[in-house]
Amino acid sequence: MQSSKQLYDNLLQQITAYETQEAKEIVFWLMEFYLGLRKIDILSDKSFEKTIDWTKIIERLNTHEPIQYILGETEFYGRRFLVNDSVLIPRPETEELVKYIVDKQKNQFPESSHQLSILDIGTGSGCIAVSLAKELPNFEVSAYDISEKALKTAQKNAELNKADVTFEKVDILNPPFTIHHSPFTIIVSNPPYVTTQEINRMQKNVLDFEPHLALFVEDSEPLIFYEAIANFAFNNLTDNGLVAVEINETLGEETADVFRRKGFSEIEISKDIHQKDRFVSAILYKKDNE
Ligand SMILES: C[S@@+](CC[C@H](N)C(=O)[O-])C[C@H]1O[C@@H](n2cnc3c(N)ncnc32)[C@H](O)[C@@H]1O
Repeated sequence: MQSSKQLYDNLLQQITAYETQEAKEIVFWLMEFYLGLRKIDILSDKSFEKTIDWTKIIERLNTHEPIQYILGETEFYGRRFLVNDSVLIPRPETEELVKYIVDKQKNQFPESSHQLSILDIGTGSGCIAVSLAKELPNFEVSAYDISEKALKTAQKNAELNKADVTFEKVDILNPPFTIHHSPFTIIVSNPPYVTTQEINRMQKNVLDFEPHLALFVEDSEPLIFYEAIANFAFNNLTDNGLVAVEINETLGEETADVFRRKGFSEIEISKDIHQKDRFVSAILYKKDNE
């Protein structure tokens, strides 16, 4: 029998890459994942039997590799998602985007007689698509990504969560001229939006470990994905359809303008929990564009 309090102190001492508060959270996370010990068990020094070789795990943590990649999973919108170095680790801001759509669709599409549908562009781990498929069972959900490895992980996450999502490899910057789907009711996306000039403000754990394909855009074309999404949505949304995207906090007005210029209406810039401009949404009224 071993003391959980002793193991906690021991692991905490070995994690040198993080400040104390963050290191403590990481140790609680590790002990719950590998030993099933909750915070309360550790505080009350519950004993345990299982032996874990912590050497590799601590080594990886001390290179700043995110704990989610080491454990191979994370939580998003109350569900488990597998993650690896081909997908971005889902962020809390993106949970806010999912919540926004769940709330908004109630007023926008009440009791529709048509098949309601959602497309998630740049699905990564599938966190948005899978969460929406679970939260909104009356919507049919599709998801695109350019990365085959990401699509494989997203497919596994759909299976893990028993969600019905159709995944397809599509480059949104060069989309197919015609798509084999009737117009979508909602198009959602959290595309790459970090400019290369913002690199020096990024933490090592993001920069060295998360896929650059998921993060970065050229400084000269920071809105390239929003232009592509607005074009695609203009051609592939239903009348009264909703587009909602996560954005670079410094480019709220500029991103809104992309959708305004394309002919979308009711454009909203919304803030995240940290009071930063983080989401743009818009509606497409086809009669305005005839
Ligand atoms: C910021 S990540 C978002 C991942 C996930 N939706 C999330 O919110 O955690 C952007 C995603 O867009 C994908 N992507 C990058 N370029 C793309 C392109 N040209 N066409 C389609 N997807 C692309 C990346 O592979 C990545 O999975």
